[in-house]
Order: sequence, then C-alpha cells, then structure tokens
Amino acid sequence: MLDIQKIRADFPILSEKVNGKPLVYFDNGATSQKPQIVIDAIAKYYQEINANIHRGVHTLSQLATDAYEISRVKIQHHINAKFSHEVLFTSGTTHGINLVTNGFASILKPGDEVVVSSLEHHSNIVPWQMLCEKTGATLKVIPMNEEGELIMEAYDALLSEKTKVVTVNHISNALGIINPVKYMIEKAHAVGAAVLIDGAQAVPHLKPDVQDLDCDFYAFSGHKMCGPTGTGILYGKEEWLNKLPPYQGGGEMIKEVTFEKTTYAELPHKFEAGTPNIAGGIVLGTAVDYLNHIGFDAIHQHETHLLEHATKRLLEIEGLKIYGTGNKASVISFNIDGIHPYDIGSIIDKLGIAVRTGHHCAQPIMSFFCIPGTIRASFSFYNTIEEIDIMVEAVKKAKTMLS
Ligand code: ALA
Repeated sequence: MLDIQKIRADFPILSEKVNGKPLVYFDNGATSQKPQIVIDAIAKYYQEINANIHRGVHTLSQLATDAYEISRVKIQHHINAKFSHEVLFTSGTTHGINLVTNGFASILKPGDEVVVSSLEHHSNIVPWQMLCEKTGATLKVIPMNEEGELIMEAYDALLSEKTKVVTVNHISNALGIINPVKYMIEKAHAVGAAVLIDGAQAVPHLKPDVQDLDCDFYAFSGHKMCGPTGTGILYGKEEWLNKLPPYQGGGEMIKEVTFEKTTYAELPHKFEAGTPNIAGGIVLGTAVDYLNHIGFDAIHQHETHLLEHATKRLLEIEGLKIYGTGNKASVISFNIDGIHPYDIGSIIDKLGIAVRTGHHCAQPIMSFFCIPGTIRASFSFYNTIEEIDIMVEAVKKAKTMLS
C-alpha cells in the first residue's frame, strides 16, 4: 500500500490553491506534476555542472556528458532495451514519431500500406498521413467498437504482405483503453511489418519491456512521467535505427564533413543533431528513479482502486455516460446528457478541479461517438479517493446549475 500523504508531500504544487480552493489535479494525461526531487535536480544541473556535452575535454563538459549518458543507461534498463544506443533522447513523443515517419519516407513505395488505429492521438495519425502523401503509400485504419476497443478480427484482416508499418498507442489518451499491443506486434511481424508503439500514456502507469513486446519502436514523453517538459525517448531496434536515415542534420550527428560528402555518426548520435535538452535528459533519469522507488506494482494497485471508485461514483449521476469501458488505465472520459463538456469543465475549474475537456487531440474518436468532446479525468498515483469524491460532488453541482 502506498503512503499517499507522504507521496503528496513530495509534490509542492499539490498543496497550492486554485481559484481559492485546494487543487484537485486530474489532468495527468496532459502532463503530470513534478516531485521536488525533479525540480531540485534541474537547478542542481545548472548550478553545478552546466556545460555542453560530447564536445569538450574540460571537466564540466565531462561531468555533464557522464550524467547525460548515465541517464540514457538508466532509461535503457527501465524499458529493458538491449543496448543503450537504441535509446534516443527526443523532445517528446511527437518528435519520436516524426523521426520514424521521416525515416520511412525513404523506404515506402506506392502500393505499400501503413496501418494506424482509430484510437490514435493526432500526433500518431498526421505524421503517417504526411508520409503516405509523400510516398504514395495507403493509410489503413483499424476500427473500434462501442466499448472503445480495437476490433482484432478487423486488424487481422487488414494485414497483408503490403503492410509495411503498424502504429498504435499502448494506452489511448482520450479513453484510457489498453491495447493488446503484444498480440498486434506478433501479427504485424508475421507479415513482415515494423511496429511503432506510442507509449506516451502508458509510461506513467506501467514499465514497458521493449524486448518482451518485441516492438520495433517505442516512443514516449518525459513530462507525463514526472519528468520535465521537452523531454522524451524514442526506443528503436538497432537494425532499424541503422537502416533509417538521420532525421535532422547538424553538429554532433556526423563522423566527417566535407563539401563533397558527409558521413554520419554511430548510434545514438546519428539521430541527436544539435545541442539537446541536456538538463531535461539528465533529470528524466531522476524522474524514472523516483517512479521506480514508488514501484509500478503499487502504482497499478492504487490507480485501479481510484478508477473503480470514480467509475462507481460518477455512474450515480443520472444521464452520465462513460466512453471507453473496456480494459483500461486510470482515465475516465465522460459526458452528461444535453450538457457541453466545456461548461462542466469551466464550472468545476472554479472549484479548483483540473480536468481536460474537448476532443483530446483525438477527433476521430469523437466522430465515432458523434460527440464534440468529453470531460476527461485522468488519475495519477498521488491522487486520492477524497479528491474523487470532491470531483463527483462538483460535477453534480455543475449539472444542477446547467440543467
Ligand atoms: N496528449 C496529451 C493529452 O492527452 C496532451 O492530454
């Protein structure tokens, strides 16, 4: 069992007031809050070892380089990648996905197919659409059902020798549905397709094992897992990262530059042009340590309890419908009959409660349910049952005011 009050004391923002009320932060799907240890580590980097990395022989540059590379290894172990050079630092999930789609522009041919799911965030749709426009490949979409689950029979039927890439999120941001990615990866590999998993919403809740999943790419963001904004990781299998061309040209990613020809650096540097977010990369390692210290089994147990309680309490409200009722993480997307989600979101904000309202950058899901958007409460391990009860009472109050 987690000592939630002790954990909450690690997060200074959780004792802030918003609109004169104690903050109830249920927008963890958008970004998580940061523990003091992460906030302090950012200052410590700038106060003690700030220097550019991989470039200088001077002591500070060595210290900064070591800290950055130690963080890479930490993340390698966290996701169980085979090699640390399969772990690329990025600015976030979107960057990671675009790096991969850019690479596939030199591989795909007209007639090839890219399979995406209907549960994707726009950042795992639009880059693939752009890739298809560029290459003449065709985008195929795995349909979903009323429970918000992907239909596996339809997925199986979409796969063929034309399928070159399958891309799917591990956990849906809009609904919280956990996709059967291991099965999907196995099926895709059986037809020779590569698989990218968008793990942005998964990494705050679970520890992905990329070798066990056998995915070819796994992209995620640091800021949703207690790390700083502007940080992220793209895991790629060594053979794929060797095959793909660099994403950006610049310093650090070269072996030798002449005006006739440039040769590229070895992995991971081939994909890390320019001065990176050094402090961010180092401190992402601090965030990973913090989460592992709490423990993902304990996180899962507590979040399951929050999800069950919130589901039960919200369903007490007449006219309330939850979208996404399959196997899922601690996310609840809901609406109340005849009331616009923004109106509920705005009223409960005045009561100090932060939820996300709207289409959650997943418009195809909203179109499927024929709704403009939802109210999304996304819970983290530092949330409490009492906070859920505060939200339920606030939603009831908003409903009364708006009915
Ligand atoms: N992708 C983030 C969310 O779902 C921003 O809120």
